[in-house]
Amino acid sequence: MRVVTLPAPDDFNAWRDAARGLIAAAVPPDDVVWQVGAEAGDLFAAAETPAPPRHDPVGPAFTVPRAFLDLARNVILHRDAERFALLYTMLDRLRTEPRLTDDHADPLVRRLEGLAKHVRRDIHKMRAFLRFREVPEEAGSRYVAWFEPEHHIVRANAAFFVNRFASMRWSILTPEVALHWDGAMLSEGPGASRADAPEGDPTEEVWKTYYASIFNPARVKVGAMLKEMPRKYWKNMPETALVPELLATAQARESGMITRAQSAEIGGNSRIAWEALREEAMGCTRCHLHKHATQTVFGEGPIEARLMFVGEQPGDQEDLAGQPFVGPAGQVFNRALAAAGIAREDTYVTNAVKHFKFEPRGKRRIHAKPDAGEIEACRWWIEQEQMLLRPKVMVALGATAARSLFGKVMTISRERGRALQLPGGGAAWITVHPSYLLRLPDEAAKRGEFDRFVEDLRAAAATV
Ligand code: URA
Repeated sequence: MRVVTLPAPDDFNAWRDAARGLIAAAVPPDDVVWQVGAEAGDLFAAAETPAPPRHDPVGPAFTVPRAFLDLARNVILHRDAERFALLYTMLDRLRTEPRLTDDHADPLVRRLEGLAKHVRRDIHKMRAFLRFREVPEEAGSRYVAWFEPEHHIVRANAAFFVNRFASMRWSILTPEVALHWDGAMLSEGPGASRADAPEGDPTEEVWKTYYASIFNPARVKVGAMLKEMPRKYWKNMPETALVPELLATAQARESGMITRAQSAEIGGNSRIAWEALREEAMGCTRCHLHKHATQTVFGEGPIEARLMFVGEQPGDQEDLAGQPFVGPAGQVFNRALAAAGIAREDTYVTNAVKHFKFEPRGKRRIHAKPDAGEIEACRWWIEQEQMLLRPKVMVALGATAARSLFGKVMTISRERGRALQLPGGGAAWITVHPSYLLRLPDEAAKRGEFDRFVEDLRAAAATV
Protein backbone atom coordinates (compact mmCIF):
# COMPACT_ATOMS: atom_id res chain seq x y z
CA MET A 1 0.00 0.00 0.00
CA ARG A 2 1.38 3.43 -0.91
CA VAL A 3 0.30 6.38 1.16
CA VAL A 4 0.61 9.75 -0.51
CA THR A 5 0.39 12.78 1.74
CA LEU A 6 -0.38 16.01 -0.03
CA PRO A 7 0.60 19.25 1.70
CA ALA A 8 -2.73 21.02 1.20
CA PRO A 9 -6.27 20.03 0.15
CA ASP A 10 -6.14 22.19 -3.00
CA ASP A 11 -2.59 21.42 -4.10
CA PHE A 12 -3.06 20.32 -7.68
CA ASN A 13 0.67 20.38 -8.48
CA ALA A 14 1.48 18.06 -5.60
CA TRP A 15 -1.26 15.65 -6.69
CA ARG A 16 -0.06 15.76 -10.30
CA ASP A 17 3.55 15.12 -9.35
CA ALA A 18 2.59 12.23 -7.10
CA ALA A 19 0.24 10.77 -9.71
CA ARG A 20 2.93 11.01 -12.39
CA GLY A 21 5.36 9.06 -10.25
CA LEU A 22 2.77 6.43 -9.40
CA ILE A 23 1.79 5.99 -13.04
CA ALA A 24 5.44 5.70 -14.06
CA ALA A 25 5.88 3.02 -11.40
CA ALA A 26 2.67 1.30 -12.62
CA VAL A 27 1.06 1.44 -9.18
CA PRO A 28 -2.60 0.34 -9.45
CA PRO A 29 -5.20 2.76 -8.06
CA ASP A 30 -6.32 0.26 -5.42
CA ASP A 31 -2.82 0.29 -3.92
CA VAL A 32 -2.79 3.99 -3.15
CA VAL A 33 -4.15 5.84 -0.14
CA TRP A 34 -4.34 9.61 -0.54
CA GLN A 35 -4.40 11.98 2.39
CA VAL A 36 -3.80 15.63 3.13
CA GLY A 37 -1.12 16.86 5.56
CA ALA A 38 -3.28 18.14 8.34
CA GLU A 39 -5.74 15.21 8.09
CA ALA A 40 -3.00 12.54 8.18
CA GLY A 41 -2.97 10.50 11.36
CA ASP A 42 -0.69 7.66 12.40
CA LEU A 43 -2.91 5.03 10.86
CA PHE A 44 -0.73 4.47 7.84
CA ALA A 45 2.52 5.74 9.27
CA ALA A 46 4.29 2.40 8.94
CA ALA A 47 3.33 1.97 5.33
CA GLU A 48 3.89 5.57 4.33
CA THR A 49 5.70 6.21 1.11
CA PRO A 50 6.76 9.76 0.41
CA ALA A 51 5.18 11.30 -2.63
CA PRO A 52 7.41 10.47 -5.60
CA PRO A 53 9.76 13.31 -6.46
CA ARG A 54 8.95 15.82 -9.18
CA HIS A 55 10.01 15.11 -12.73
CA ASP A 56 9.69 11.35 -12.42
CA PRO A 57 9.74 9.80 -15.87
CA VAL A 58 6.33 9.20 -17.39
CA GLY A 59 5.82 6.33 -19.81
CA PRO A 60 6.97 7.55 -23.23
CA ALA A 61 3.76 6.79 -25.11
CA PHE A 62 1.42 8.33 -22.57
CA THR A 63 0.23 11.87 -23.12
CA VAL A 64 -2.35 13.15 -20.68
CA PRO A 65 -5.16 14.99 -22.53
CA ARG A 66 -5.47 18.68 -21.71
CA ALA A 67 -9.17 18.18 -20.98
CA PHE A 68 -8.28 15.81 -18.16
CA LEU A 69 -5.87 18.29 -16.61
CA ASP A 70 -8.50 21.02 -16.80
CA LEU A 71 -11.01 18.71 -15.15
CA ALA A 72 -8.53 17.64 -12.48
CA ARG A 73 -7.63 21.24 -11.60
CA ASN A 74 -11.26 21.85 -10.67
CA VAL A 75 -11.96 18.49 -9.06
CA ILE A 76 -8.99 18.85 -6.70
CA LEU A 77 -10.76 21.83 -5.14
CA HIS A 78 -13.82 19.77 -4.16
CA ARG A 79 -14.36 18.79 -0.57
CA ASP A 80 -15.00 15.13 -1.42
CA ALA A 81 -12.23 13.07 0.24
CA GLU A 82 -12.30 10.57 -2.64
CA ARG A 83 -11.33 13.11 -5.27
CA PHE A 84 -7.60 12.29 -5.39
CA ALA A 85 -8.25 8.56 -5.78
CA LEU A 86 -10.97 9.07 -8.39
CA LEU A 87 -8.67 11.27 -10.45
CA TYR A 88 -5.85 8.77 -10.19
CA THR A 89 -8.20 6.00 -11.32
CA MET A 90 -9.15 8.06 -14.34
CA LEU A 91 -5.52 8.87 -15.10
CA ASP A 92 -4.70 5.18 -14.92
CA ARG A 93 -7.55 4.33 -17.30
CA LEU A 94 -6.43 7.03 -19.75
CA ARG A 95 -3.36 4.95 -20.48
CA THR A 96 -5.50 2.38 -22.25
CA GLU A 97 -8.58 4.54 -22.99
CA PRO A 98 -7.14 7.76 -24.43
CA ARG A 99 -10.59 9.10 -25.38
CA LEU A 100 -12.10 8.56 -21.96
CA THR A 101 -12.52 12.29 -21.29
CA ASP A 102 -15.01 12.46 -24.20
CA ASP A 103 -17.12 9.62 -22.81
CA HIS A 104 -19.59 11.66 -20.78
CA ALA A 105 -21.73 8.57 -20.15
CA ASP A 106 -18.94 6.78 -18.31
CA PRO A 107 -19.85 6.73 -14.57
CA LEU A 108 -16.39 7.84 -13.43
CA VAL A 109 -16.26 10.68 -15.96
CA ARG A 110 -19.78 11.73 -14.96
CA ARG A 111 -18.90 11.73 -11.30
CA LEU A 112 -15.76 13.81 -11.84
CA GLU A 113 -17.61 16.24 -14.10
CA GLY A 114 -20.24 16.59 -11.38
CA LEU A 115 -17.57 17.44 -8.81
CA ALA A 116 -15.97 19.96 -11.18
CA LYS A 117 -19.37 21.57 -11.73
CA HIS A 118 -19.91 22.06 -7.98
CA VAL A 119 -16.50 23.66 -7.72
CA ARG A 120 -17.13 26.06 -10.61
CA ARG A 121 -20.42 27.09 -9.06
CA ASP A 122 -18.73 27.77 -5.76
CA ILE A 123 -16.04 29.85 -7.47
CA HIS A 124 -18.71 31.98 -9.10
CA LYS A 125 -20.70 32.32 -5.92
CA MET A 126 -17.65 33.70 -4.18
CA ARG A 127 -17.14 36.19 -7.00
CA ALA A 128 -20.76 37.27 -7.09
CA PHE A 129 -21.72 37.29 -3.43
CA LEU A 130 -18.63 38.32 -1.49
CA ARG A 131 -19.00 41.78 0.08
CA PHE A 132 -16.26 44.00 1.46
CA ARG A 133 -16.73 46.22 4.49
CA GLU A 134 -14.48 49.20 5.01
CA VAL A 135 -12.20 49.29 8.05
CA PRO A 136 -10.24 52.50 8.68
CA GLU A 137 -6.56 51.85 9.40
CA GLU A 138 -3.57 54.12 9.80
CA ALA A 139 -2.30 53.29 6.34
CA GLY A 140 -5.73 54.05 4.88
CA SER A 141 -8.88 52.00 4.46
CA ARG A 142 -8.77 48.25 4.36
CA TYR A 143 -11.73 46.33 2.93
CA VAL A 144 -12.56 43.13 4.73
CA ALA A 145 -14.94 40.40 3.63
CA TRP A 146 -16.12 37.21 5.25
CA PHE A 147 -16.97 34.24 3.06
CA GLU A 148 -17.78 30.58 3.70
CA PRO A 149 -17.03 28.54 0.61
CA GLU A 150 -18.29 25.01 0.21
CA HIS A 151 -15.07 23.78 -1.38
CA HIS A 152 -11.37 24.60 -1.32
CA ILE A 153 -11.69 27.42 -3.82
CA VAL A 154 -10.26 30.40 -1.97
CA ARG A 155 -6.69 30.27 -3.29
CA ALA A 156 -7.94 29.45 -6.78
CA ASN A 157 -10.02 32.64 -6.66
CA ALA A 158 -7.23 34.87 -5.32
CA ALA A 159 -6.05 36.11 -8.72
CA PHE A 160 -9.57 37.18 -9.60
CA PHE A 161 -9.85 39.45 -6.54
CA VAL A 162 -6.32 40.78 -6.98
CA ASN A 163 -7.14 41.75 -10.56
CA ARG A 164 -10.51 43.28 -9.76
CA PHE A 165 -9.54 45.13 -6.62
CA ALA A 166 -5.88 45.79 -7.35
CA SER A 167 -5.79 49.30 -5.95
CA MET A 168 -7.63 48.52 -2.73
CA ARG A 169 -6.10 47.01 0.40
CA TRP A 170 -8.28 44.06 1.28
CA SER A 171 -8.59 40.88 3.31
CA ILE A 172 -10.85 37.96 2.60
CA LEU A 173 -11.49 35.88 5.71
CA THR A 174 -12.73 32.31 5.42
CA PRO A 175 -12.82 29.44 7.92
CA GLU A 176 -9.77 27.70 6.42
CA VAL A 177 -7.55 30.44 5.11
CA ALA A 178 -7.36 34.22 4.91
CA LEU A 179 -6.06 36.20 1.93
CA HIS A 180 -4.53 39.63 2.40
CA TRP A 181 -3.70 42.05 -0.40
CA ASP A 182 -1.73 45.19 0.43
CA GLY A 183 -1.86 46.71 -3.04
CA ALA A 184 1.34 44.98 -4.12
CA MET A 185 1.64 41.59 -2.43
CA LEU A 186 -0.74 38.79 -1.67
CA SER A 187 -0.21 36.90 1.57
CA GLU A 188 -2.02 34.14 3.37
CA GLY A 189 -3.04 33.83 6.97
CA PRO A 190 -4.80 31.21 9.06
CA GLY A 191 -8.53 30.62 8.91
CA ALA A 192 -10.79 33.06 10.73
CA SER A 193 -14.26 33.12 12.20
CA ARG A 194 -17.18 35.32 11.34
CA ALA A 195 -16.59 37.32 14.52
CA ASP A 196 -13.20 38.42 13.12
CA ALA A 197 -14.93 40.19 10.26
CA PRO A 198 -16.34 43.68 10.78
CA GLU A 199 -20.05 44.27 10.83
CA GLY A 200 -21.73 47.37 9.38
CA ASP A 201 -19.72 50.28 8.02
CA PRO A 202 -19.93 52.87 5.22
CA THR A 203 -19.31 50.30 2.49
CA GLU A 204 -22.66 48.83 3.35
CA GLU A 205 -24.30 52.02 2.22
CA VAL A 206 -22.69 51.63 -1.16
CA TRP A 207 -23.95 48.09 -1.45
CA LYS A 208 -27.35 48.95 -0.14
CA THR A 209 -27.68 51.71 -2.70
CA TYR A 210 -26.52 49.31 -5.35
CA TYR A 211 -28.89 46.61 -4.30
CA ALA A 212 -31.87 48.92 -3.93
CA SER A 213 -31.18 50.21 -7.42
CA ILE A 214 -31.13 46.78 -9.03
CA PHE A 215 -33.77 45.17 -6.88
CA ASN A 216 -36.49 44.21 -9.27
CA PRO A 217 -39.81 43.76 -7.51
CA ALA A 218 -41.35 42.20 -10.57
CA ARG A 219 -38.91 39.36 -10.19
CA VAL A 220 -39.36 38.69 -6.53
CA LYS A 221 -39.62 35.00 -6.02
CA VAL A 222 -38.18 34.33 -2.64
CA GLY A 223 -37.75 30.62 -3.37
CA ALA A 224 -35.81 31.31 -6.53
CA MET A 225 -33.68 33.96 -4.84
CA LEU A 226 -32.81 31.64 -2.04
CA LYS A 227 -31.93 28.93 -4.47
CA GLU A 228 -29.51 31.19 -6.27
CA MET A 229 -28.23 32.92 -3.21
CA PRO A 230 -28.38 30.37 -0.38
CA ARG A 231 -29.19 31.72 3.07
CA LYS A 232 -25.65 31.20 4.25
CA TYR A 233 -24.61 33.99 1.85
CA TRP A 234 -27.52 36.23 2.72
CA LYS A 235 -26.36 36.79 6.23
CA ASN A 236 -23.06 38.20 4.95
CA MET A 237 -24.64 40.62 2.56
CA PRO A 238 -25.63 44.04 3.85
CA GLU A 239 -28.27 44.48 1.20
CA THR A 240 -30.31 41.52 2.41
CA ALA A 241 -31.26 43.58 5.42
CA LEU A 242 -33.30 45.58 2.95
CA VAL A 243 -35.24 42.67 1.53
CA PRO A 244 -38.29 42.72 3.83
CA GLU A 245 -38.72 46.43 3.26
CA LEU A 246 -38.18 46.11 -0.45
CA LEU A 247 -40.71 43.34 -0.65
CA ALA A 248 -43.23 45.38 1.31
CA THR A 249 -42.93 48.34 -1.04
CA ALA A 250 -42.41 46.35 -4.21
CA GLN A 251 -45.55 47.46 -6.02
CA ALA A 252 -44.97 51.14 -5.41
CA ARG A 253 -41.40 50.94 -6.55
CA GLU A 254 -42.06 48.98 -9.68
CA SER A 255 -42.66 51.87 -12.05
CA GLY A 256 -39.51 53.78 -11.16
CA MET A 257 -37.39 50.70 -11.05
CA ILE A 258 -35.95 50.60 -14.51
CA THR A 259 -34.45 54.05 -14.44
CA ARG A 260 -32.73 53.22 -11.19
CA ALA A 261 -31.24 50.04 -12.57
CA GLN A 262 -27.95 51.53 -13.62
CA SER A 263 -26.11 48.99 -11.54
CA ALA A 264 -22.98 48.79 -13.66
CA GLU A 265 -22.15 52.39 -12.81
CA ILE A 266 -22.15 51.56 -9.15
CA GLY A 267 -19.75 48.74 -9.85
CA GLY A 268 -21.91 45.85 -8.73
CA ASN A 269 -20.38 42.48 -8.24
CA SER A 270 -22.87 41.00 -10.70
CA ARG A 271 -21.19 42.78 -13.58
CA ILE A 272 -17.80 41.72 -12.27
CA ALA A 273 -18.98 38.14 -11.94
CA TRP A 274 -20.39 38.26 -15.47
CA GLU A 275 -17.10 39.55 -16.85
CA ALA A 276 -15.26 36.80 -15.00
CA LEU A 277 -17.67 34.25 -16.37
CA ARG A 278 -17.14 35.53 -19.88
CA GLU A 279 -13.39 35.44 -19.43
CA GLU A 280 -13.59 31.89 -18.22
CA ALA A 281 -15.80 30.91 -21.14
CA MET A 282 -13.11 32.22 -23.49
CA GLY A 283 -10.97 29.26 -22.43
CA CYS A 284 -13.81 26.73 -22.43
CA THR A 285 -12.82 23.19 -23.36
CA ARG A 286 -15.92 21.46 -22.01
CA CYS A 287 -16.47 19.82 -25.39
CA HIS A 288 -14.39 19.41 -28.53
CA LEU A 289 -15.96 22.32 -30.45
CA HIS A 290 -13.41 24.81 -29.14
CA LYS A 291 -10.71 23.07 -31.19
CA HIS A 292 -11.86 24.36 -34.56
CA ALA A 293 -13.84 27.49 -33.73
CA THR A 294 -12.11 30.88 -33.82
CA GLN A 295 -13.32 31.87 -30.37
CA THR A 296 -16.03 31.49 -27.77
CA VAL A 297 -19.01 33.66 -28.62
CA PHE A 298 -20.48 34.62 -25.28
CA GLY A 299 -23.79 36.34 -24.62
CA GLU A 300 -24.06 40.12 -24.74
CA GLY A 301 -26.38 42.75 -23.38
CA PRO A 302 -27.06 44.60 -20.16
CA ILE A 303 -26.81 42.61 -16.97
CA GLU A 304 -30.17 44.08 -15.89
CA ALA A 305 -31.95 42.78 -19.00
CA ARG A 306 -35.32 41.27 -18.19
CA LEU A 307 -35.63 39.51 -21.51
CA MET A 308 -33.02 36.95 -22.53
CA PHE A 309 -32.91 35.39 -26.00
CA VAL A 310 -31.15 32.09 -26.55
CA GLY A 311 -30.13 31.04 -30.05
CA GLU A 312 -28.55 27.81 -31.23
CA GLN A 313 -24.86 28.49 -31.77
CA PRO A 314 -22.75 31.18 -33.46
CA GLY A 315 -22.58 31.00 -37.23
CA ASP A 316 -19.63 31.74 -39.49
CA GLN A 317 -19.81 35.52 -39.05
CA GLU A 318 -20.49 35.39 -35.33
CA ASP A 319 -17.49 33.11 -34.92
CA LEU A 320 -15.25 35.69 -36.58
CA ALA A 321 -16.81 38.73 -34.89
CA GLY A 322 -17.10 37.17 -31.42
CA GLN A 323 -20.70 38.42 -31.08
CA PRO A 324 -24.01 36.59 -31.27
CA PHE A 325 -26.50 37.15 -34.08
CA VAL A 326 -24.57 39.51 -36.32
CA GLY A 327 -24.76 37.44 -39.54
CA PRO A 328 -27.74 36.75 -41.84
CA ALA A 329 -29.87 35.14 -39.11
CA GLY A 330 -29.01 38.09 -36.89
CA GLN A 331 -30.37 40.48 -39.48
CA VAL A 332 -33.69 38.64 -39.62
CA PHE A 333 -33.72 38.62 -35.83
CA ASN A 334 -33.06 42.37 -35.69
CA ARG A 335 -35.86 43.08 -38.15
CA ALA A 336 -38.27 40.93 -36.17
CA LEU A 337 -37.30 42.61 -32.91
CA ALA A 338 -37.87 46.02 -34.45
CA ALA A 339 -41.26 44.91 -35.82
CA ALA A 340 -42.19 43.64 -32.34
CA GLY A 341 -41.15 46.96 -30.76
CA ILE A 342 -38.30 45.44 -28.79
CA ALA A 343 -35.00 47.30 -28.43
CA ARG A 344 -32.26 44.70 -28.82
CA GLU A 345 -29.90 46.77 -26.66
CA ASP A 346 -32.26 46.31 -23.71
CA THR A 347 -32.15 42.54 -24.03
CA TYR A 348 -29.50 39.90 -23.41
CA VAL A 349 -28.74 37.72 -26.40
CA THR A 350 -26.83 34.48 -26.13
CA ASN A 351 -26.58 31.00 -27.58
CA ALA A 352 -27.13 27.49 -26.25
CA VAL A 353 -23.73 26.47 -27.66
CA LYS A 354 -20.92 28.97 -27.51
CA HIS A 355 -18.62 27.65 -30.24
CA PHE A 356 -19.28 27.46 -33.97
CA LYS A 357 -19.74 23.87 -35.16
CA PHE A 358 -19.12 23.41 -38.85
CA GLU A 359 -17.93 21.09 -41.56
CA PRO A 360 -15.23 22.46 -43.86
CA ARG A 361 -16.17 22.33 -47.51
CA GLY A 362 -13.36 23.78 -49.57
CA LYS A 363 -12.90 27.28 -48.24
CA ARG A 364 -16.40 27.40 -46.80
CA ARG A 365 -17.47 26.40 -43.34
CA ILE A 366 -20.88 24.80 -43.40
CA HIS A 367 -23.01 25.04 -40.26
CA ALA A 368 -23.45 21.70 -38.48
CA LYS A 369 -26.12 21.12 -35.84
CA PRO A 370 -24.80 20.66 -32.30
CA ASP A 371 -25.56 17.24 -30.86
CA ALA A 372 -27.04 16.40 -27.46
CA GLY A 373 -23.61 16.01 -25.80
CA GLU A 374 -22.45 19.40 -27.04
CA ILE A 375 -25.66 21.08 -25.92
CA GLU A 376 -25.36 19.42 -22.53
CA ALA A 377 -21.70 20.41 -22.12
CA CYS A 378 -22.54 24.03 -22.87
CA ARG A 379 -25.64 24.15 -20.68
CA TRP A 380 -23.47 25.10 -17.76
CA TRP A 381 -22.77 28.50 -19.29
CA ILE A 382 -26.43 29.25 -19.91
CA GLU A 383 -27.22 28.31 -16.34
CA GLN A 384 -24.55 30.70 -15.13
CA GLU A 385 -25.78 33.51 -17.35
CA GLN A 386 -29.31 32.88 -16.12
CA MET A 387 -28.17 32.84 -12.51
CA LEU A 388 -26.39 36.16 -12.83
CA LEU A 389 -28.99 38.00 -14.87
CA ARG A 390 -32.14 36.46 -13.44
CA PRO A 391 -34.17 37.50 -16.49
CA LYS A 392 -37.90 37.70 -16.10
CA VAL A 393 -38.50 35.88 -19.37
CA MET A 394 -36.32 33.73 -21.59
CA VAL A 395 -37.04 33.05 -25.24
CA ALA A 396 -35.65 29.95 -26.91
CA LEU A 397 -35.06 30.52 -30.60
CA GLY A 398 -35.36 27.08 -32.16
CA ALA A 399 -35.10 23.48 -31.06
CA THR A 400 -31.50 23.52 -29.82
CA ALA A 401 -32.14 26.44 -27.49
CA ALA A 402 -35.36 24.84 -26.25
CA ARG A 403 -33.54 21.59 -25.55
CA SER A 404 -30.86 23.45 -23.65
CA LEU A 405 -33.31 25.40 -21.48
CA PHE A 406 -35.74 22.56 -20.80
CA GLY A 407 -33.18 19.73 -20.71
CA LYS A 408 -35.25 17.66 -23.14
CA VAL A 409 -36.55 17.67 -26.69
CA MET A 410 -39.41 20.16 -27.13
CA THR A 411 -41.71 20.32 -30.13
CA ILE A 412 -41.82 23.91 -31.30
CA SER A 413 -45.13 23.67 -33.14
CA ARG A 414 -46.82 22.34 -30.00
CA GLU A 415 -45.18 24.63 -27.44
CA ARG A 416 -44.87 28.00 -29.15
CA GLY A 417 -47.06 30.98 -28.39
CA ARG A 418 -47.40 30.63 -24.62
CA ALA A 419 -45.32 31.02 -21.47
CA LEU A 420 -43.88 27.77 -20.19
CA GLN A 421 -42.42 26.98 -16.82
CA LEU A 422 -38.69 26.18 -16.84
CA PRO A 423 -37.67 23.09 -14.84
CA GLY A 424 -35.50 25.21 -12.52
CA GLY A 425 -38.14 27.97 -12.17
CA GLY A 426 -38.81 31.03 -14.29
CA ALA A 427 -40.72 31.52 -17.51
CA ALA A 428 -39.63 30.74 -21.05
CA TRP A 429 -41.19 30.95 -24.48
CA ILE A 430 -40.27 28.84 -27.44
CA THR A 431 -40.36 30.02 -31.02
CA VAL A 432 -38.64 29.26 -34.30
CA HIS A 433 -35.05 30.10 -35.10
CA PRO A 434 -34.62 33.08 -37.47
CA SER A 435 -32.58 30.96 -39.88
CA TYR A 436 -35.69 28.80 -40.40
CA LEU A 437 -37.27 31.86 -42.01
CA LEU A 438 -34.26 32.28 -44.28
CA ARG A 439 -34.58 28.72 -45.51
CA LEU A 440 -38.24 28.90 -46.54
CA PRO A 441 -38.36 28.73 -50.35
CA ASP A 442 -41.65 30.49 -50.90
CA GLU A 443 -41.92 34.27 -50.44
CA ALA A 444 -45.51 34.19 -49.20
CA ALA A 445 -44.67 31.50 -46.65
CA LYS A 446 -41.66 33.53 -45.60
CA ARG A 447 -43.81 36.58 -44.95
CA GLY A 448 -46.42 34.60 -43.04
CA GLU A 449 -43.84 32.85 -40.86
CA PHE A 450 -42.00 36.11 -40.23
CA ASP A 451 -45.26 37.64 -38.95
CA ARG A 452 -45.84 34.66 -36.64
CA PHE A 453 -42.28 34.98 -35.35
CA VAL A 454 -42.82 38.69 -34.64
CA GLU A 455 -46.06 37.83 -32.86
CA ASP A 456 -44.23 35.31 -30.62
CA LEU A 457 -41.57 37.89 -29.73
CA ARG A 458 -44.18 40.52 -29.00
CA ALA A 459 -46.19 38.19 -26.79
CA ALA A 460 -43.12 37.12 -24.82
CA ALA A 461 -41.97 40.72 -24.37
CA ALA A 462 -45.41 41.71 -23.13
CA THR A 463 -44.96 39.43 -20.11
CA VAL A 464 -41.70 41.05 -18.98
N1 URA B 1 -27.58 31.50 -35.18
C1 URA B 1 -27.64 31.39 -33.83
O1 URA B 1 -28.34 30.56 -33.29
N2 URA B 1 -26.91 32.22 -33.12
C2 URA B 1 -26.13 33.13 -33.62
O2 URA B 1 -25.47 33.83 -32.85
C3 URA B 1 -26.08 33.24 -35.03
C4 URA B 1 -26.81 32.42 -35.78
